[in-house]
Amino acid sequence: MSLPAARAAGPDELIFYVNGRKIVEKNADPEQMLLSYLRKRLRLTGTKYGCGGGGCGACTVMISTYEPVSKKIRHYSANACLLPICSLHDFAVTTVEGIGCTKTRIHPVQERLAKCHGSQCGFCTPGMVMSMYALLRNHPEPSMEQITEALAGNLCRCTGYRPILDGCKTFCKEPFCCQSKENGNCCLDREDKLKGEKISTKLFSADEFQPLDPTQEFIFPPELMTMTENQPKRTLVFQGERTTWISPASLKELLELKAKYPKAPLVVGNTSVGPEMKFKGVHHPVIISPARILDLNVVRSTDNGLTLGAACSLAAMKDVLTNTVSELPGEKTKIFRALLHQLKTLGGQQIRNISSLGGNIMSRKSTSDLNPILAVGNCTLNLASREGTRWISLSDIFANGVGNNTLTPEEVLVSVHIPHSRKGEFVSAFRQAQRRENALPIANAGMRVLFAEGTDIIMDFGIFYGGIGSTTVCAKQTCRALIGRHWNEQMLDEACRLVLKEVSLPGSAPGGKVEYRRTLIVSFLFKFYLEVLQSLNRMDPHRCPDISEKHGSVLQDFQPKMPQSEQIYQEVNPEQLPRDPVGRPIMHQAGIKHATGEALYCDDIRAVDEELFLAVVTSSRAHAKIVTIDVSEALKVPRVVDVVTAEDVPGKNGTEDEQAYAKDEVICVGQIVCAVVAESAVQAKRGVEKVKIEYEDLEPILTIEDAIKHNSYFGKEKKIEQGNIEEGFKSADEIIEGEIHIGGQEHFYLETNSVLVVPRGEDNEMDVHVSTQDAARVQELVALALDVQSSKIMCHTKRVGGAFGGKVTKPAFFAVVAAVAANKTGRPIRFTLERDEDMLITGGRHPFYGKYKVGFTNDGRITAADIESYINAGCTLDESGLVIDYVVLKTDNAYKIPNLRVRGRACKTNLPSNTAFRGFGFPQSGLFTESWIATVATQTGLPHEKIREINMYKGVNLTPFKEELDATNLVKCWKECMEKSEYYSRKTAVEEFNKQNYWKKKGIAIIPMKFSVGFNATLYHQAAALVHIYTDGSVLVTHGGIELGQGIHTKMLQIASRELKVPLSYVHLCETSTITVPNAIVTAGSIGSDVNGKAVQNACQILRKRLEPIINKNPEGKWEDWITEAHQQSVSLSATGYFRGYVANMNWDTGEGQAFPYFVFGAACSEVEIDCLTGDHKNIRTDIVMDACFSINPAVDIGQIEGAFVQGVGLYTMEEIKFSPEGEQYTLGPDAYKIPAVCDIPEQFRVYLLPNSRNPIAIYSSKGVGEAGLFLGCSVFFAIWDAVAAVRKERGLTGTFTLNSPLTPERIRMACGDNFTEMIPKDKPGTYKPWAIDIA
Ligand SMILES: Cc1cc2nc3c(=O)[nH]c(=O)nc-3n(C[C@H](O)[C@H](O)[C@H](O)COP(=O)(O)OP(=O)(O)OC[C@H]3O[C@@H](n4cnc5c(N)ncnc54)[C@H](O)[C@@H]3O)c2cc1C
Ligand code: FES
Ligand code: FES
Repeated sequence: MSLPAARAAGPDELIFYVNGRKIVEKNADPEQMLLSYLRKRLRLTGTKYGCGGGGCGACTVMISTYEPVSKKIRHYSANACLLPICSLHDFAVTTVEGIGCTKTRIHPVQERLAKCHGSQCGFCTPGMVMSMYALLRNHPEPSMEQITEALAGNLCRCTGYRPILDGCKTFCKEPFCCQSKENGNCCLDREDKLKGEKISTKLFSADEFQPLDPTQEFIFPPELMTMTENQPKRTLVFQGERTTWISPASLKELLELKAKYPKAPLVVGNTSVGPEMKFKGVHHPVIISPARILDLNVVRSTDNGLTLGAACSLAAMKDVLTNTVSELPGEKTKIFRALLHQLKTLGGQQIRNISSLGGNIMSRKSTSDLNPILAVGNCTLNLASREGTRWISLSDIFANGVGNNTLTPEEVLVSVHIPHSRKGEFVSAFRQAQRRENALPIANAGMRVLFAEGTDIIMDFGIFYGGIGSTTVCAKQTCRALIGRHWNEQMLDEACRLVLKEVSLPGSAPGGKVEYRRTLIVSFLFKFYLEVLQSLNRMDPHRCPDISEKHGSVLQDFQPKMPQSEQIYQEVNPEQLPRDPVGRPIMHQAGIKHATGEALYCDDIRAVDEELFLAVVTSSRAHAKIVTIDVSEALKVPRVVDVVTAEDVPGKNGTEDEQAYAKDEVICVGQIVCAVVAESAVQAKRGVEKVKIEYEDLEPILTIEDAIKHNSYFGKEKKIEQGNIEEGFKSADEIIEGEIHIGGQEHFYLETNSVLVVPRGEDNEMDVHVSTQDAARVQELVALALDVQSSKIMCHTKRVGGAFGGKVTKPAFFAVVAAVAANKTGRPIRFTLERDEDMLITGGRHPFYGKYKVGFTNDGRITAADIESYINAGCTLDESGLVIDYVVLKTDNAYKIPNLRVRGRACKTNLPSNTAFRGFGFPQSGLFTESWIATVATQTGLPHEKIREINMYKGVNLTPFKEELDATNLVKCWKECMEKSEYYSRKTAVEEFNKQNYWKKKGIAIIPMKFSVGFNATLYHQAAALVHIYTDGSVLVTHGGIELGQGIHTKMLQIASRELKVPLSYVHLCETSTITVPNAIVTAGSIGSDVNGKAVQNACQILRKRLEPIINKNPEGKWEDWITEAHQQSVSLSATGYFRGYVANMNWDTGEGQAFPYFVFGAACSEVEIDCLTGDHKNIRTDIVMDACFSINPAVDIGQIEGAFVQGVGLYTMEEIKFSPEGEQYTLGPDAYKIPAVCDIPEQFRVYLLPNSRNPIAIYSSKGVGEAGLFLGCSVFFAIWDAVAAVRKERGLTGTFTLNSPLTPERIRMACGDNFTEMIPKDKPGTYKPWAIDIA
């Protein structure tokens, strides 16, 4: 059927099922994705938006399809953000709401994830639940490997994954203890051993879980099954406003359509086309969906190979290849195995489930993991067009340069033939990515060699690389030149030389990392050489030598392992009443609702009558004058209502420091210039594209180096000094000087910034629902902007989907932007940032540059240190003044440096303004200090731990700013950590391993920590609470703290329960609001639970006191009786609690003061293994000891420690923000910016809360541990440092060296200098324009 005929019949009805309910969509829009359809149309908001590009898994749903011929039902997980609704005809969709809810019955996956404490902010939880649910539908008793594979495509920024895995492991048949045979002890044995010490290792009780009963699951809708069986296959046409979707039923129709619409993409998984449409604004008037055509779905095993239809999903391909490999002799399956090697880590499970083989090939992306293997394996493509069919070798497409012309736009890829490998043929696949799983490769390769029978003489050779050029590239001439050569070292040398000449990568190549990628080109080749050599040796040991012992370690790839963990904390006193929840590992108050998707976040709030959607126009220049803003075309876009600019702000446009809407000038790329409001989010975005801004460029300052050169700073230099620095240097045996650069970090909270502003229509009142850590600030800025009193602005925050400091200051500006639009239009405004906008606009952790001069004695005593620190603050002050204060105040970390001078400056640049981030400067200054400590160790030749021990604070001391400090627990943590981690014996084992392995090295490091909790001013520690008791006895607690996932509400309920002496079930918490608690202080600084806890305690104690006479009169009465009586007696059942705050008063004029209320100590020991050829590393084991004994909730606190630690591992080893030389941020989503995933947590992960340590000033002797764990992530950094040091020593690279942060594969590889790093061409700085600049 041609399109006109189809149109004549009118567009088809789209039919699919959601959670068993039939959906008939008469006007299906091909541009609409399932995610927005679920959330906005069906109001199923359990499925979350995290990135919109398939990279985070927050939107995971399960898709079920029925195949009428085989009568098979297939269930698979998929990313709703990438699924066009038109692709779902005849499919069944299951969302998190469909598998269980609190009103009916919760599903065991939901229950176990929640009860194992697998949710903190809960924003990733529905996605996790659905990935696991889809796995269980196919494998009710999954293996550990299947679980890690199923979760590889789901990101969590809060938990560090450990508790999520704990929940999932309970479904495994395999036992979920550590299985360690180390010293004859496994974790269960340890549990016994520790029992006598009133110590617990249990955070949940598996006994209370309901069993998984597969018969209780949703069945595939029978009606859909009948429909699929009985319906004749016909072309379907869905007509949207701008796009037509055509799904032909036969190949013939498809070819006709393709002839008619040669530019129309064939969309199968939409994983390539979808992101281009969304992020690059590509528009396709016609989309063709070939997925239903049988020819494109064939799976045929032939005598000489396998033929797979182009529409086969990568998951199906993986299954077919796995089965075939198990059935055929190894000799025949080398290409299949190479493909499986890539498929194992290609995308996440959800991506593999929907993306097609044909799509991967035909996109011809440089990052395709399959094309290099398919090309080198001489796979052939079956292409068809109306003119006929032909077979073409994939290698021809790539071998003839960028041979894109080989394919015509009318041609369709029908199937791919993958041949069997032959005798004497060897095929291998290589890839290296920023993260081992679910990350596009930095570079990859497919290599194949064929030898003359019975010899090592090369007959045929093929090498294809990905990630090097604009598409897959072939080293054709190199391979040709090597034919006839023996497989030996001379051949390898020649091959490396030739390949570097042929496959050249210019210094300015997009993607950067140029020298690293060049090194990978030859490193992969070397790996292949050894692999083949080893195979030749195994085939004929007499003729072919084995690879030397030295090189053996090259060939052992890191194998994923299910992480094992242990958490040890002090149990509550046995005399504590069972109903008193304080000190117990109570589940997060909203845990179950997180897991069922019922927990509401800002953008989940139902549509408000007449609401409009807002999208922002941001500056494309780092520094420029705004000459004109032309909005005329934007206003012509259908359903665009208005454009809002700085001129529309009736009051104050932001703060003194930062404008909400840019006026006259822009000071960074990403600054908000104006906003378009429309009746839909899509229309608002289209309006944004039409706004034209004319700029007059001004000179930008982007880097710290530039800022220093131009004297561009915020505020004055901050300085503290103790002792006599000059004398200190005089008494040193040696002095070293050096510097370090530490990159920034994106918050990457899973919930992007979101605000809903609703004018109340009376007295200028406005409700502002906002995802923030500081509702009072939002209220203040909105009131100022609208020129109304704060009392008219009501801010509400129910919960926040992760914040980590990123929602301290920025949400107020987003709220102002929305409120001004609401004020102008008189209508409610919804403003939810897309992930790329959020990353572009909001800034992150400050990039850092530090210079040191350190004097020390030969026995490792540091006598003096002169420290200079600089942070890249970006374009406005924001929190940078405080951050630099903390950098300076916390530089000493755990060390007593008798003569110390620390100076710090916040650099003003034209980058998006950096802001608060967990740890607030300490993660940078602490790492800096540990780096020069490590350098002192290298210089003295003494063990690093000795230098740390010698210089560590001991007993009662004074900090450099003269605050008293009792370091007893610091030393205790250090010693416990040494012991628990078996540091010395493992250090010996590491050294032994390193002697035996040339290309793999292990490293181990132990790092102490002194973390100062809270703020350096009393005012920031005040808190208030409001507690009501209703006449039925139920209690409503409100306080000024905001639930960010850190469990503050759970702790407040525990406190209220203890203080009022009522069961936890009586106490409820609804939201944080400026109506109930005014002027609340920002929830940050690890102090939120401390101070709000005191306020809640105070309110409850007041109430209890009021009730006392009644209780005393009727001591045997019930709570309800007392409350009724109190009401009868007109006793007020509502009380305000207040806490004036811990005293803190830093005086910068004198450089002295009580800067922080108290300290938390800790230590962590980590062990890693690095691959010296690729720079890859794996985290083997981490032991953390934290001085947080009397935890209000050990599950919450251990969760914070682990989550922060993993975030620290991200900061120090993988997360890289990249900027162009023009100041444009490249890293705007999870595709380009990698946070740790399940594969990155240590294989053994142990957390131990130091017992019997009291904190006299905080509530119930607890300590705030929200941030402290992050810094301990640097134990992984220094373990890598240790491994790199071992490499360098072995290679004869003596002397000190510096490693900058993060220690990415690139930095690790390039630090392991060897022949390969030496042989690559190097570009002289200044001779080319680099793709990215170093802003630190
Ligand atoms: C989060 C994420 C992670 C990823 N990670 C990786 C990774 O690690 N490694 C990797 O290699 N890839 C990765 N990818 C890319 C992914 O594998 C490809 O996008 C996918 O294979 C394309 O298949 P598709 O069916 O989704 O293509 P679609 O987006 O549906 O189509 C892609 C293109 O192929 C063309 N096309 C499709 N089928 C045919 C056909 N039969 N004949 C002619 N043209 C056709 C279309 O016209 C279109 O231009 C990732 C993608 C995402 C979103
Ligand atoms: S929102 Fe779909 S994967 Fe991130
Ligand atoms: S709980 Fe996973 S992102 Fe917050």
